[in-house]
Amino acid sequence: MDVSKSKLLAVAVFLAACGGTKTNGTTPDGGTSEPTGGGTTEPAPEPAGPVTWDDSWGHDEKAEFMEAQVLPQMKTAFKAHSEERWGGFNCKTCHGDPWKGQPKDALPKLTLKGGEFDVPEDEKPIVEFMKTEVVPKMAAMFGQEPFDPATGKGFGCGGCHVVEVAE
Ligand code: HEC
Ligand code: HEC
Repeated sequence: MDVSKSKLLAVAVFLAACGGTKTNGTTPDGGTSEPTGGGTTEPAPEPAGPVTWDDSWGHDEKAEFMEAQVLPQMKTAFKAHSEERWGGFNCKTCHGDPWKGQPKDALPKLTLKGGEFDVPEDEKPIVEFMKTEVVPKMAAMFGQEPFDPATGKGFGCGGCHVVEVAE
């Protein structure tokens, strides 16, 4: 927040200093932009970078996307659900502390019994939160629909947890 505010401020000051340059990328005398940013006045959109995941990325691009999109969006959602439990939400809340690699290797295994998640009574609100907040947001970031049991397609609980089906 502070960073983008100060960027905007810097742009405003710059504009004032050169007498109201229009935001069309040229300077008043018709010259082209200098590398220092003279004349280019559009503030960079925040956040920068891609907004959907691409499976073909390498490790660094994936990590960057996690940092720019997944962590901030998920941190906000988890903390809003329970500040008490997830106040310290970070990469390792999903990837394991110590780091285990994929979330599937780090997070608790889920069991589906008769179409319902087999969890203790006090975890039912968590299941609801995962269904209504976590899955739709992650699906959007991964460029998929939320998991649909009818087609077996989409991003669901199995994107982060191992899901076992018990008879
Ligand atoms: C909300 C849970 C969540 C959070 C928080 C999170 N990740 Fe991820 N991360 C995932 C999921 C899901 C995948 C995709 C796994 C897959 O490809 O099936 C993943 C994949 C990755 C990968 C690619 C792994 C590979 O082997 O291809 C890297 C690297 C990674 N995350 C780094 C990070 C970093 C760094 C952070 C913190 C800035 C972070 N993650 C935060 C859920 C999370
Ligand atoms: C983006 C990754 C992600 C997805 C998708 C996801 N979860 Fe989770 N889940 C987590 C994280 C992170 C935790 C918290 C782990 C912790 O606090 O140590 C968690 C915790 C839980 C817990 C609590 C487990 C415990 O032992 O306290 C349950 C239950 C749960 N998830 C069910 C689900 C269900 C059901 C779905 C699908 C509807 C789902 N999750 C989808 C990341 C995910």
